[in-house]
Amino acid sequence: MAPAVVLILPKTGYRNEDFLAAAKKLGAEVIQASDVCHRLAEQWEEHPLALRFREAEAAASELAAQVAQRNPVAVIGVDDQSSLVAALAAEKLGIAQNPVRAVAAARSKEQSRARLHAAGLPVPRFEVVARDLPPAEIDALAARSPYPCVVKPLVLSGSRGVIRADDPAQLRAALSRVAALLRSPEVAQRRDPDLARLLVEEFIPGPEIALEGLLVRGQLHVLAIFDKPDALDGPFFEETLYITPSRHPAQLQDGAARAVAEGCAALGLVEGPIHAELRLSPGGPRLLEIAARSIGGLCGRALRFGVGISLEELILRHALGLRADPPPRERSAAGVLMLPISKRGTLEEVRGVDEAKRLPLIEDIVITAHLREELVPLPEGASYLGFAFARARSPAQVETALRRAGKLIEARVTPRLPVTA
Ligand SMILES: Nc1ncnc2c1ncn2[C@@H]1O[C@H](COP(=O)(O)OP(=O)(O)O)[C@@H](O)[C@H]1O
Ligand SMILES: [Mg+2]
Repeated sequence: MAPAVVLILPKTGYRNEDFLAAAKKLGAEVIQASDVCHRLAEQWEEHPLALRFREAEAAASELAAQVAQRNPVAVIGVDDQSSLVAALAAEKLGIAQNPVRAVAAARSKEQSRARLHAAGLPVPRFEVVARDLPPAEIDALAARSPYPCVVKPLVLSGSRGVIRADDPAQLRAALSRVAALLRSPEVAQRRDPDLARLLVEEFIPGPEIALEGLLVRGQLHVLAIFDKPDALDGPFFEETLYITPSRHPAQLQDGAARAVAEGCAALGLVEGPIHAELRLSPGGPRLLEIAARSIGGLCGRALRFGVGISLEELILRHALGLRADPPPRERSAAGVLMLPISKRGTLEEVRGVDEAKRLPLIEDIVITAHLREELVPLPEGASYLGFAFARARSPAQVETALRRAGKLIEARVTPRLPVTA
């Protein structure tokens, strides 16, 4: 019988189909779990096990009890929340994966900073403060904070709630804006105690890169290094272009890979995918974060390995115990443009997509936002308009093609009417 893997697929996940397609290709038996409610679960083709991710421990116990008889060889999460449930369930099932402590530390920006710092890795100066500080404490914080600094939530992702402040007035504004986001019903429903605190840390200048890696028995295999050629200087940090291979000097790339490997060891991560972000600061590569999961959104589609192997397939192969070294990324350059949401309002139409698809080197454009959906830009928003993909001989060609595509695509939104009393 084919080995079974448990896939924990978030109900709003961009990549569920890619994981399911990869599992099918590999002939793996898949047990699906999700945070959909029971009623919706019955509508999914496979009737996933309905779990509540926010109660990670309880969700993991239920999952482990339900699947134990089928002897799964791995439990795989897709995003930060589902990866934690996966680690907890794997531990209960006696499957050797990343330790729960390591996955929990990677997910919490506070624990990550503390562990990396304790291991002697250079991290920005940081401080964790209560979300709802009394005015006198805000004054004191504004007086002692380094500038420029960055305010951010401890547990969100996708740059949500991440704001740069250059002076005390901006810091006050950022603190209250992030606090309002964390109190908003949509975020507060997670009921995570970490939503009651914020991180304030030194802003690290320099170009930013992302490193996609796979840990195999504690050893980091670099799958790809992406440059982020649009400056990320704030005040908000909208991700746009990711282009691989990196055009930074090999020595810097090697230094970044070493920092990530040391960071994984400091967090205790040993198996499976990681997604790290770093700044190439004047003082050397600086880790911004290491997530115990692969890259988010549909960005993984920019990567192909060996002979037509997707990132999801690579992750599943590893999880299934095919733990040979991962095949190298294809030779061509590749990239993705995350189409940002620039205006708040109801999405009426997305223009220019067909024209952009016809551009040379553009492989695909996927609009993930739905018509009539309420679009919310950063720092409050949590989604993208869509993703554009390009492949070419050189990273510069990929970048040019994606920029041209981005210019053609326009979201038409109607502003939300102000609420009047
Ligand atoms: N200390 C910092 N210095 C410089 N830029 C930062 C810093 N912290 C965050 N950023 C910017 O904000 C982005 C999102 O922050 P990050 O900590 O990675 O949170 P998230 O989990 O939301 O991705 C980063 O990719 C980076 O561009
Ligand atoms: Mg990040």
